[in-house]
Amino acid sequence: MRDPETNALDGDPQQKVFIKTYGCQMNVYDSERMQDALTASGYATTDDASAADLYLINTCHIREKATEKVYSEIGKLKKMRNAKREAGGDMTIAIAGCVAQAEGEEMIRRAPAVDLVIGPQAYHNLPRLLEKAKGGARIVETGFGLDDKFANLPAPQEKRVKAGGVSAFLTVQEGCDKFCTFCVVPYTRGAEVSRSVAQIVAEAEKLAANGVRELTLLGQNVNAWHGAGEGGREWGLGELLFRLADVPGLKRLRYTTSHPADMDDALIAAHRELPMLMPYLHLPVQSGSDRILKAMNRRHTGADYCRLIDRIRMARPDIALSGDFIVGFPGETDADFEDTMRIVADVGYVAAYSFKYSPRPGTPASEMDLMVDDAVAQARLERLQALLASQQQVFHNSLVGRDVEVLVEKPGREAGQRIGRSPWLIPVVLPENSGHIGDVVSVRIVGSGRNTLQAEGANARSRAA
Ligand code: SAH
Ligand code: SF4
Ligand code: F3S
Repeated sequence: MRDPETNALDGDPQQKVFIKTYGCQMNVYDSERMQDALTASGYATTDDASAADLYLINTCHIREKATEKVYSEIGKLKKMRNAKREAGGDMTIAIAGCVAQAEGEEMIRRAPAVDLVIGPQAYHNLPRLLEKAKGGARIVETGFGLDDKFANLPAPQEKRVKAGGVSAFLTVQEGCDKFCTFCVVPYTRGAEVSRSVAQIVAEAEKLAANGVRELTLLGQNVNAWHGAGEGGREWGLGELLFRLADVPGLKRLRYTTSHPADMDDALIAAHRELPMLMPYLHLPVQSGSDRILKAMNRRHTGADYCRLIDRIRMARPDIALSGDFIVGFPGETDADFEDTMRIVADVGYVAAYSFKYSPRPGTPASEMDLMVDDAVAQARLERLQALLASQQQVFHNSLVGRDVEVLVEKPGREAGQRIGRSPWLIPVVLPENSGHIGDVVSVRIVGSGRNTLQAEGANARSRAA
């Protein structure tokens, strides 16, 4: 018999899992779903790594020495397990995510401490594979598209949703068919797959019924989502957003990450017609140089991107943009880099992620000549980041004195405060009496910092959590 509260079996001290998550929001979502699957099979979650019977790392492979870092972390876990074994305990070590997918069998060979290597398409098999691993087998499961993992994972758990607060992720699309020459995602996550409308709507309804007010739809290439809509017509992400706008309880919608080539008219129309679709769009351009964009296989020019931004701004004039940039792609000249600086100056971003190019094993760019000298790439990165940071600060300052709609999310660090989220994701510190958690309230912004905004009446000394 299972205890209905703890899910533990009679006479069986409950097994505890510690999960460490790296990488993108899709990994965050996957970790939550794995946690649900483990809870359903009797595990409790712990924040104390030393108390864990199962240590699960959900890894990311996107940049720099990711693989080496995972191996060095496994080395530390091995020591931790040895100490536990000396004290009569034990610990299972499981590696999930994109490094697990990329390394596969190699990980079992190189790291004898690892019990289970599981790729992102196999998470629904996690409890079953763990049972096998406990029997002494060392297991690698990195197949693609065997069955629909989300349909086979338990639905998000009510308890977790409640603890998780008013904003939630929902993965609607996985994988990528774009094959940008620098990127590992098409190899670690496989081909593009869209979840069905019925599955997405059911999950959104369940989340909303449990108190979620803001939903962020996720996909490596989320605006390539498509599926058979209600009534049999083919839908794209725009139509899906219109449908989700009808889910009772939801107040805000977002989606990330998008590719410029997949922004279609219906999606732009959603920005025009759906006030609950937040006026904030992450639309990476990577470079402003047409030559480099071509070598990256991005399938658009700088001018195409700027025209697209104009169309989106026509639909939603107050939309704020964020982006991703890579500097030092093989062959990037000073003139190419100046094109990137120019496109940033032209578009104007309120937030951005910028990186030095890092060669990823197995990608076409990793075999290209003309690697940019690291000192040159570093200097370019610093110039770009200074420009992006100044644009961000100008935007934050422009909000001072304005009334802004904020979703109240959680208690603040100091008594009498709450933390809320602006339409542009910037946290806002606001007084407790502004509203209940889950409410959208209008507050006057009176101060701006690098990472937070201050609403009228909130203690000026404080910062957001
Ligand atoms: N699907 C998204 C991005 C996924 S990866 C898109 O199409 O833009 C997130 C970001 O990591 C990328 O936008 C890119 O800027 C960065 N990135 C990916 N591979 C990289 C590499 N090899 N070196 C440096 N940055 C990289
Ligand atoms: Fe990677 Fe390009 Fe796909 Fe984005 S669109 S995940 S950068 S291959
Ligand atoms: Fe990293 Fe994989 Fe996401 S490589 S960015 S965890 S898709």
